[in-house]
Formats: sequence, C-alpha cells, structure tokens
Amino acid sequence: METLRDIVLVIHLVGFATLFGSWLVEVVNRRTQVTRLMHWGLAISLIAGLALSAPWGTDADFNYMKIGIKLVILVIIGALLGILGARQKRGAQIAPALFWAVGILTLANAAIAVIW
Ligand code: HEM
Repeated sequence: METLRDIVLVIHLVGFATLFGSWLVEVVNRRTQVTRLMHWGLAISLIAGLALSAPWGTDADFNYMKIGIKLVILVIIGALLGILGARQKRGAQIAPALFWAVGILTLANAAIAVIW
C-alpha cells in the first residue's frame, strides 16, 4: 500500500513538473500562450492530489488545512488557464500578469507542499 501511494505521489509530481515546465517553456521563449500541456499538468496534479488525500490505510498524518489551500490555489490556476485560453482563442490580448500568476501560483503550491 505504501509503495502504491508513493507511485501516486510520483504521478502527482509529474503533474507539477508538466504544468510548471510547460509554463517555463513559454517564459523562456518570451511568449504568454496557454498550452494544452498546462491543462494536462493541472489535471494530473488534481487527480493524483485527490487520490493522495484519501485514507490509504497507512499511518499518514493529513494536514487538511494545507490540502484545502492547495485545492483552492489549483482551482484558481484552472480558472486562469480557462480565462486565458478563451481570450487566446478569440485572438484577444493576454494580460501578462495573469499569465505570470499561473507559474507563481504553481510554484506557491509546491512550496506549500514541501515547506508547510
Ligand atoms: C498545482 C497544484 C499542485 C502542486 C504544484 C503540488 C505539489 C506538490 C508537491 C511538490 C508535493 C510533494 C511534497 C513532499 O513530498 O514533500 C505534493 C504532495 C502532496 N499533494 Fe500536492 N500539489 C498540487 C495540488 C494538490 C492538490 C489539489 C491536492 C489535493 C486536493 C494535493 C495533495 C497533496 C498531498 C496529500 C501531498 C502529500 C503526499 C505525502 O507526502 O504524503 N496537491 N504536492
């Protein structure tokens, strides 16, 4: 059971890496585009994160405050991706601040996970 949970944690980290990595690629290329990979990364983080938050019969000690805040931040990131993606489709200008918020909030979630 422990090993299975560790595998889900690795999947959760893959989701984080996919979301943050695809955002970073845009930054390095001086673009502010929302890409499909960002949505995939977010979805993987969410599904694996919810699975990790379930009781696994292990003696893992949950900090539900921390999990709740991470969930709220993830929903905000999802809303930003949705808003930016819709504007992008219409060919409208994307506010750089909103694009930057996606990366900063993703990093904030990782920091909360590790430091708190
Ligand atoms: C963009 C969103 C997210 C990012 C970047 C993220 C990042 C991380 C990272 C880096 C860890 C590893 C921490 C460590 O092992 O020290 C972690 C663990 C964890 N995450 Fe997330 N996370 C996100 C969303 C979520 C969501 C939405 C949930 C639940 C609803 C969640 C639940 C958990 C749990 C329960 C763990 C702890 C696993 C353990 O050590 O037992 N995460 N997360």
